[in-house]
Amino acid sequence: PTPAHWRAADDFLAETLVGHDPALEAALTAQRAAGMPAIEVAPVSGKLLSLLVRISGARRVLEIGTLGGYSTIWMAGAVGDGGRVVTIEAEPANAAVARASIDAAGVGDRVEILVGRAADVLPTLADPGPFDLVFIDADKESNTIYLDWAARLGRPGTVVVLDNIGRDGDIVDPASTDPKVAGTRAGLEMLGRDPRFDATALQTVGVKGWDGVAIALVV
Ligand code: DHB
Ligand code: MG
Repeated sequence: PTPAHWRAADDFLAETLVGHDPALEAALTAQRAAGMPAIEVAPVSGKLLSLLVRISGARRVLEIGTLGGYSTIWMAGAVGDGGRVVTIEAEPANAAVARASIDAAGVGDRVEILVGRAADVLPTLADPGPFDLVFIDADKESNTIYLDWAARLGRPGTVVVLDNIGRDGDIVDPASTDPKVAGTRAGLEMLGRDPRFDATALQTVGVKGWDGVAIALVV
């Protein structure tokens, strides 16, 4: 098996189980045209976020890291009428693209985009929570800060999803000097140690290579 096999298998899974949504695909086209990196969640992972929202009955979602709004649209579709997604994006140009794509997807009335570094924005949130599901997908160096806010803005039963826990296996490379790897490890160690969480993680291979996702419950 090679990365090409993983990608082909992931494409098959996406074709078979996820299908095509014009608004989601338009969001990716707009994101690419704006020059953002292609680091949005994979289609199967966007569908996983949507299913986690629905399985947990989440109506109020907090997202940290909007990028072009692809995962935001997935979750905004899942919260249903009257649901709400608050999403935080550090880069104003990204937020503008996301705003247009989210509005074009017909879920703009459910989504509030806050612009700024999440570590600065979170202490100023007008919305006091609690949030039912928190998706953390921003600068990995700040994962522990974001997890702390997820616990504080959550309630027992809140679902927390932390993206990018695999990083090509580098999380167990003792020689790694990558601050993203250090932040990823720190986030996982916090999920294991902090009594506010009960967590596990799944490694994934697919269109984004070897990566993964941690899923936690606020207890
Ligand atoms: C990176 C960030 C992501 O959120 C992701 O899904 C993949 C890669 C990164 O910063 O390298
Ligand atoms: Mg990510």
